[in-house]
Amino acid sequence: MEQYVIKGGTALSGEVEISGAKNAALGILAGAIMTDETVTIENLPNVKDINVLIGAIEDIGASVDRVDEHTVKITGSSITRLSVDYEYIKKIRASYYLMGALLGKYKSAEVALPGGCLIGSRPIDLHVKGLKALGANVDVSYGLWSARADRLAGNHIYLDKVSVGATINIMLAAVLAEGKTTIENAAKEPHVVDVASFLNSMGANIRGAGTDVIRIVGVSKLHGTTYAVIPDQIEAGTYMCAAAATHGDVLVKNVIPKHLEATSAKLIEAGCVIEEYDDAVRVIAKGRKLSSTHVTTLPYPGFPTDMQPEITAVLAIAEGTSTVSESIFENRFKYVDELARMGATIKVEGTVAIVTGVERYTGAQVTAPDLRAGAALIIAGLAADGITVIDDIKFIQRGYEDIVGKFTKLGATFAEVDSEHELQKFKLKVS
Ligand code: UD1
Repeated sequence: MEQYVIKGGTALSGEVEISGAKNAALGILAGAIMTDETVTIENLPNVKDINVLIGAIEDIGASVDRVDEHTVKITGSSITRLSVDYEYIKKIRASYYLMGALLGKYKSAEVALPGGCLIGSRPIDLHVKGLKALGANVDVSYGLWSARADRLAGNHIYLDKVSVGATINIMLAAVLAEGKTTIENAAKEPHVVDVASFLNSMGANIRGAGTDVIRIVGVSKLHGTTYAVIPDQIEAGTYMCAAAATHGDVLVKNVIPKHLEATSAKLIEAGCVIEEYDDAVRVIAKGRKLSSTHVTTLPYPGFPTDMQPEITAVLAIAEGTSTVSESIFENRFKYVDELARMGATIKVEGTVAIVTGVERYTGAQVTAPDLRAGAALIIAGLAADGITVIDDIKFIQRGYEDIVGKFTKLGATFAEVDSEHELQKFKLKVS
């Protein structure tokens, strides 16, 4: 049973290097199978979700050459199966990007349906609507989602809700559809832009990614490319929040500061100083008082829902009463009970958390309910008095590369243990 164990109370200081963006890499890996030529993807984060999707890509017959920890070469010419098993979907929902990619390339795909999710219901109606608009017959039954088309033809698609997943999936299929596709009310997240840039580097014709309206002119085929994934804005934001919560001083390197603006703005409101450089941000909270602020999650460029638990972990030890409103996923406050076990005072009313700042966290044994909530527990543990033990770290490992090593380098006393004996050894060492 793997656990993280943290002895809190050390102000983080120093530098941390941010890895490639998991959510961009997931769309890019799926897109890589859309040509028969070899695609080289660099700056992949070495995290479980990425490795699961690479496994799914190998499973359908593509050839995968792992050049090093962060680089993979994918050649889609040997694909033999157009169906993606539940085994992969159950582990990562984003393997549904193989639907858009396979449908675009082979005009046929069958993908297991994603189930519910810990952070709220995750419907696929907008994905289905988009693929149907491109001319596919889409059938949802027997736990499968299948789509077939004699030909795909561009169309005008309006997304009723801003959806990262639907935007990327439709974009993937549309690049190889005949004629023009317009996606209105498209998601503007940096990872949507990165997937579009990647597809363009393969010969696609996508314009407007990063705005509300994405215009795609279909091409008949895509070619090989070499592409480096953008830095992970959520990983960066997590280290920024950890610096704030521990009253530290941390330079977060290899980032695109523009992608971090919402997080930076809230940390400034909470009392931190943020210095921006070309490809780094420095968070200074040393000697500064943290104070309350109000946060509402929104699609990009709003405050990311994936940063909601992490900022709440900061605000729970900031003076005054903060509110955190969650507007994207309805069930994303499960972790507050865990933070409460560490001394936080947070009341959830519907989609709003009312956070009454306390002076400090106290270490406790807690359980990570999902990926970003797990990150929030780490932040709390780093700031807490005493020792925090986190269970169910498999969720955290889905999206954070070498989190123990990176925090340790910043001065944290943080370890992964896999037995009671190791846990006791850690406790003995730090007491
Ligand atoms: C992606 C991210 C996830 C992030 C989320 C919002 C990946 C792999 N995951 O998830 O980390 O939290 O964006 O930024 O990139 N919706 C529908 N119908 C659909 C699709 C979505 O109603 O067909 C709704 C969802 O229930 C949710 C909202 O749209 O309320 C946004 O979801 P979406 O942007 O699609 O999230 P994901 O792409 O699943």
